Amino acid sequence: MTMPSADGTIFLPPQASTVAVEVDTIFYFIYYLCLLFFLLLGGSALYFLLKYRRREGGPEPVPISHNTALELAWSIIPLILLVIMFAWGVKAFLNLSVAPRDAMEIHAYARRWLWEFEYPDGNKSIGELRVPLGRPVKIILLSQGDPGGNVIHSLFIPAFRVKADALPNRYNTLWFQATRLGEFQIFCTEYCGAGHSDMLAKVVVMEPDGFKKWLDGLNRPPEGMPLAKVGEELFTKFACVTCHKNRADNAAVIGPSLIGAFGRTEGLADGSSVVIDENYLRESILQPAAKVVKGYQPVMPPFQGTLKDWQVTALIEYIKTLKQ
Ligand code: CUA
Repeated sequence: MTMPSADGTIFLPPQASTVAVEVDTIFYFIYYLCLLFFLLLGGSALYFLLKYRRREGGPEPVPISHNTALELAWSIIPLILLVIMFAWGVKAFLNLSVAPRDAMEIHAYARRWLWEFEYPDGNKSIGELRVPLGRPVKIILLSQGDPGGNVIHSLFIPAFRVKADALPNRYNTLWFQATRLGEFQIFCTEYCGAGHSDMLAKVVVMEPDGFKKWLDGLNRPPEGMPLAKVGEELFTKFACVTCHKNRADNAAVIGPSLIGAFGRTEGLADGSSVVIDENYLRESILQPAAKVVKGYQPVMPPFQGTLKDWQVTALIEYIKTLKQ
């Protein structure tokens, strides 16, 4: 037997939001009710099958027209149980659907293939959503257009028991209030192309003070760290690694390999060629469709307006270090 538990069960991950308890309780209510009726019906069918099986010299069967008490019981009891399931479910669904008025609003942009989050102060993070503990947070979802066309994504945070589609050209929302510090997995749960299974992110629940400090810190590069090292971290954080090969053991082929790229002369889709220098890399990060490398699709999302100058510079410095 497994029952709702804050640390998760064989069926469900840990409960880390205010709605998780109710969602789990309803899940287990329905699950055990179904199990009970399955055993009751299956068991009695089996019992009667054996007890009243045809035997040599047994009594002749007597036809029974009906049994009012029994018929009322097997209609009314399930009806009551179903109404309980429905009413309880609707109540929880409404709670899940309507964010509290004082919720902090964070925009989530789904791109192929990464999650980008924009905070009320205009700062952004990619691949990680940070939220303060104990405060309602409303996520406003949008699937952002890219040169390869729009697709539907879906933001799913199992530990919070929330999930909502990110649609192109239309906002969708979900909300939660985190009840536990720590890191929890985010999945994309709508098939969105080659990078779908890599479209992962983390939600990091922080103490409110720490969250504020972290937001402030997004405005400038970390101190005392070489720029190329900062760029290396950003390369993973911004999900560049999903499409671009940066190490011998990375098999990414959606975009051109960046190993030994700096200084190379690259053939472009329009037949011309370009020497890969700082300015080409900068343009290709901010406006990837401007000069697409021959043999590749223009599917990379533009990072114009997403990355700060110091982040672009750090990425370029990192790419310079990727030697053959
Ligand atoms: Cu995005 Cu699947």
